[in-house]
Amino acid sequence: MGAASLQPNATPQRLRLRRPDDWHVHLRDGALLQAVAPATARSFARAIVMPNLSPPITTVAAAEAYGARIRAALPDGSRFTPLLTAYLTDTIDPAEIERGHAEGVFTACKLYPAHATTNAAAGVTDLARIEPVLAAMERIGMPLLIHGEVTDAEIDIFDREAVFIERHLAPLLGRHPGLKVVLEHITTAESVAFVRQAGPNLAATITPHHLHINRNAMFQGGLRPDFYCLPVAKRERHRLALRQAATSGEPWFFLGTDSAPHPRSAKESACGCAGIYNAPFALESYAEVFEQEGALDHFEAFASLHGPAFYGLPLNDGHITLVREPHTVPARLHGGDTTLVPFHAGQVLHWRLAEEG
Ligand code: DOR
Ligand code: ZN
Repeated sequence: MGAASLQPNATPQRLRLRRPDDWHVHLRDGALLQAVAPATARSFARAIVMPNLSPPITTVAAAEAYGARIRAALPDGSRFTPLLTAYLTDTIDPAEIERGHAEGVFTACKLYPAHATTNAAAGVTDLARIEPVLAAMERIGMPLLIHGEVTDAEIDIFDREAVFIERHLAPLLGRHPGLKVVLEHITTAESVAFVRQAGPNLAATITPHHLHINRNAMFQGGLRPDFYCLPVAKRERHRLALRQAATSGEPWFFLGTDSAPHPRSAKESACGCAGIYNAPFALESYAEVFEQEGALDHFEAFASLHGPAFYGLPLNDGHITLVREPHTVPARLHGGDTTLVPFHAGQVLHWRLAEEG
């Protein structure tokens, strides 16, 4: 036996990656924005920021003002760039979307089926109503980001993503073969398979929480609101399919945290909000999965290369370093008067982002 085989597959102690991006995040507004923006800016060079504020971001002016509020919430010297999105409604004006894209204000549009999730009441009731916008987006090369769940009360909540693909996504891609679409936060083996066969204009983001938990997490020892999000976590076989997809090195799967903070009081309530706040340790959480899957060599592509390639944006310059150093995630985080429970609260993670400089 040669010396080289004494430590087969030894885990590296440091990982150096091109600066990554988060292709799906909720930064909120007001005090919550102040509390959470630094966590995303610490780890990511850019992030696609969701427009589901109250009221939602539907105009270029509203997006510009929101962008300024985000920048004001960043720590001094931060190099983070928010990439803003427009919230599609039944009555959205295609000219406003085109102008926002041409002026570099809107990177993409977000489609929430009406009532699908938090602040989705003003979402789209029927895809036929936004046909002119979709045609314009296809023409100008502007990506459509989809919350892919049907909202019909008679469809079981665990089936809503698969039914959306069948009823809405497949026909939509047929009508608009040139439209770039991101199926956001996929949660099922069916979605993984659909993305794989769809061709280069369809991609998917995968969250850290859907890689770590299955639906049992919501019910372990009692009702656990910190593991409730939408789309809801599914069976173990789906989690395993997502882990395989994320770590496969295939270019249509990339990083999108769907970090969705809600104050602890809004989560721990008779009608608790959907959303998992994973931004503070998102990269560390993904790194854990890639290590467990023996795929650390694919981590940079998932975190830093596939997203920009799909969006047609330049790669970031500069690098970050993750060091293998176990640490316990705090049980609670406090920002101003707000208490937030981070994903992995109280658990040990094995990678830590080294501070710059
Ligand atoms: O869990 C979720 N939270 N899913 C969403 O789609 C929206 C998000 C939020 O904004 O809270
Ligand atoms: Zn989201």
